[in-house]
This record gives sequence, structure tokens and C-alpha cells, in this order.
Amino acid sequence: MPYVRNAWYVAGWDRDLPNNTPFAITILDERLVLWRDGDGIVHALEDRCVHRLAPLSLGRCEDAGLRCMYHGLLFAPDGRVLAIPGQDTVPPQARVRAYPVAERHSWIWVWMGDPARADEALIPPAVGLNDPDYVLGHGQLDYAAEARLINDNLLDFSHLSFVHAQSFGSGPEFAETPGRITPLPRGIRYERWNENSRGSSARRSAEPADVYMTYDFLIPGVLLMTGGTYPLGTARGCGHCVPDPALATGGVTFTSQAVTPMAGHTARYFFSWGPHRDHGDAKLRDALMVMAGQAFAEDKTMIEAQQRVIDMTPEPRIMPTVHDRGVTLFNRLVEKLAREEA
Ligand code: FES
Repeated sequence: MPYVRNAWYVAGWDRDLPNNTPFAITILDERLVLWRDGDGIVHALEDRCVHRLAPLSLGRCEDAGLRCMYHGLLFAPDGRVLAIPGQDTVPPQARVRAYPVAERHSWIWVWMGDPARADEALIPPAVGLNDPDYVLGHGQLDYAAEARLINDNLLDFSHLSFVHAQSFGSGPEFAETPGRITPLPRGIRYERWNENSRGSSARRSAEPADVYMTYDFLIPGVLLMTGGTYPLGTARGCGHCVPDPALATGGVTFTSQAVTPMAGHTARYFFSWGPHRDHGDAKLRDALMVMAGQAFAEDKTMIEAQQRVIDMTPEPRIMPTVHDRGVTLFNRLVEKLAREEA
């Protein structure tokens, strides 16, 4: 299945890119070098010198741009070669591709498609680590599996009842009752009420309560999820509507997660998670991150094993279940957008 190119992909955490230090990442099988200049502005170029194809990520940041440290060609942030040591003229075709970059919500985003169509309004509204309303921890994982499989996992929460029965303490309800799926212009929305529940480990309730959760899963592969614990009867009382978060009695958290396809069947998974300040503190955040570490390792084990089976299967075919509605809608959207780009 294709990936959408006219989209913002997460390349890394803003705090992990110090000034004047080149950083290499492969996204959608394209090698990129990113650097933050002396003024703090981030740039992204193709990580391949026009001279003899050495990686610019082994280069040196200078005031004017990035210098290849093999034979010294100097590249401007827009990809043009500015200078060739010992040569008076620079051929007009001497340039590498430059990628639009944006910093938003603690992530560095790179637009992998047509630069003329780069629109920062399409950056998914994640919650950054400095958001005053939440106490967030963060991390990332590298997968030996393609991004599509991770997206599929995040689009079908019935796996919580099985893969995460230990870590999140998820009950059978996730598998027994599908969530409500709503198509969005650039993704899908998942919502569910678990009524008369004591919640999972992340939203444990001393007394039975109604637990609400919802997430948007957005192009190219970004999950934004929140939810909370409400007094018993809230779900029925409001017709299983979207509750007013101010009425939550506890358990309000937010998680932002992004899946970036890298080279071949590899991907990088970025995540943050933590409580709303009214419902928790740094101690709870740290406990959630321990839980997330266990849960995301469970996903990784399953998905990488799934990838190995797929790789050994001559003509892999899937058989969707009732829980695949979100997967199907999202993947159809990806195919449609990719087709329009082509
Ligand atoms: Fe970059 Fe020669 S390979 S200057």
C-alpha cells in the first residue's frame, strides 16, 4: 500500500536537535539531513552531496549553510551549492532537494511531497510537551516493521483486550464491543464508552464509573487521544455523547503518537502521554510512562513478528473483521490521496 507524500511527517523531537549539529533520518525511503542553524531555525535537505554522493549529515554547519566534509562543497538551506573549493563557478544544476520544515507541538515535521503544497494548517493538532494543561512524558521506538502495520494496530483497539491485558489491564470490552468510528476529512475518529467500569490501569477508578475515550487518527499516521472517568450513568444520561471534560472525576490524560515510515520495512514511533494537571502530577506521568513502555514493547513484539510472517507469505491477504472499520476507512483515504498525488 502507498503512503501519502503531501503530508507532514514527524522527523524527531525539537529538543533532540541542538544548534549546528546535523541529524540524519530516512523518511519514505528518502535520506534527509536536518540541522538547526545558529539562529535556531531548522532546515532539511536531501542527505546526498551532488559531488560524489557523500552524506551531508557528516558535514559541518556554517553560517551560510551546510558544508560537505568530503571535498568541501557548501550548500545553502534551499539546497543550492554556494561554493566549490578551488572552482570559480558553480553549475546551475548543482543543488539538492530541500524539504519544507515546521516545528510544532514539540515535534519537527517535514513535508515529503510537493513543496508548493506544503500547508502548515495540515499539521495535526498534537499536544506539545510544554502544554500548560498536561504533564507529559515522551519517548520513541524503532520498529523492524513497516509503518502501515503500526497504523493498522492503532486503528483497531480490539487488540487492547489481548496484547495489553497485562500492561494496560484492558478488559474484554475493547474486543467485545467495537468503538464508534466517524470519518474525518484527513482521518477517522474513534470513540467509546465503557460503562459501569473500573477502567484500565491508566484510568483506574475506585468505584464503578463510566469511562470515555476518543482519538483522532490523522494523515499520515498521527494518533491524538484523550478521555476520562465520569460518574456512573453519565454515558446513558447524555445518550453516549461526547462528555464535557470539566465533568470528569479523574483519569483525564492525553497522548500524541506519530508513526514515521523510514527505509524499507522500518519505522519510528514517537509518543507522549500524561495526565491533565487537574488529574495528576509528575509522579503519575512517570507511572504512565512505565506502563506505556511495557505496552508499546508488547505492540512491537507482535507487529514485528507479524511483519516476518508477511514477508514469508507469497501473496499475503487479510480477512477484515468488524473491528477493521477504522483501518479500512483510513487505508482507503490513504489510497485515495496517494492516487490523487500520482
Ligand atoms: Fe561532497 Fe565531494 S562528496 S564534496
